[in-house]
Formats: sequence, C-alpha cells, structure tokens
Amino acid sequence: MVRYKAVLSLGFLIVLTFSSTSTKAFHNDIYYPRVPEDLLEIIQDMDNPFPPTRKNIKEGSNVYFGKGLCVKCHGVKGKGIEVSGHSPRNFTDPKWQNIRTDGEMMWVLKNGSPGTSMPIRVGKVISEEEGWKVILFIRSFAGV
Ligand code: HEC
Repeated sequence: MVRYKAVLSLGFLIVLTFSSTSTKAFHNDIYYPRVPEDLLEIIQDMDNPFPPTRKNIKEGSNVYFGKGLCVKCHGVKGKGIEVSGHSPRNFTDPKWQNIRTDGEMMWVLKNGSPGTSMPIRVGKVISEEEGWKVILFIRSFAGV
C-alpha cells in the first residue's frame, strides 16, 4: 500500500512537471505578450487586411456570437465570464486594447493561448478572413 502511494505521488510529480513546461507561453500578467519572443516583432507588425467598415464589423460580430463561440467565454459585453482557471480576456480594458496589435490577436486565434482555455479558432472553426473581422469587432469593445 505504501509503495502504491509512492508510485502515485511520483506520477503526480511527473504530471506537474510536464504541465508546467506546456504552459511556457502563458503568463499571469494579462498585458504580457502571448506570442513567443522570437516571433513577436514580425507578428506585432502584421496589419489587419480588412478596414473597420460597418459591414466588416457586423460580419465580425456574427462570428463572435455565432460559430466562433467567443461569446461563451468572453461574454455579451466583452468583459469575460467567470471560469475556473485563467479568466477570458476582458476586451473593454483600454490598457489591453492599447498594448495588443491585431497581428498578436490573430496569432492567438491561430494557436490558442497555451496553458489557458483560449482555444484555437482560425483553421478549426472559422476562416482567417472571419478571424480578422472578429478582431475588428473586438476593437469595438474599446472604451465601452
Ligand atoms: C472556452 C473559452 C474561450 C472561447 C470559446 C474563446 N476564448 Fe478567447 N480567451 C479565453 C481565455 C481564457 C483567454 C485568456 C488567455 C490568456 O490570458 O492568455 C482568452 C483570450 C483571448 C484573447 C486575448 C489574447 C491576448 O493576446 O491577450 C483574444 C484576442 C481572444 N481570446 C479572442 C477570442 C475570439 C475572437 C474567440 C472566438 C472566435 C474566442 N476568443 C473564444 C477563452 C476563450
């Protein structure tokens, strides 16, 4: 029985070690970049190819409330709902809106945010074009 317990706790230790390495890109500070350092400069400079026209923002909102399922975690007002673990981003935070570029958001849509429940969206449930448009919609939460 004692030996069984020892094996169990060793297993637990291994799980802990592995889960901490898989959370490498994750940072507790919400303002800290989610994009790995070696890519950051290029990704930050990527422009949104779609202009923030009323039509594009509306299409982005359809993705947010529809097949992107963003609303499930980020909420109707963009403030983020309460979940266990790391909170979904509050898009109404002006400091975060200022710091993050559209390119960085696209990276998160394509890769998820490792170590959090933010899932991969572009390439799985929405197209790249829909991704850029939902980013335009996220910008509309700024200053709300
Ligand atoms: C299952 C819950 C969940 C869903 C669904 C979800 N998100 Fe998130 N999202 C999160 C969490 C949790 C975070 C915080 C991650 C972090 O701090 O790194 C986050 C963070 C983000 C960020 C901020 C990343 C950064 O660089 O600070 C963006 C942008 C984002 N989500 C966009 C979206 C969009 C757009 C959709 C829908 C297409 C979506 N999310 C769907 C949970 C979710």
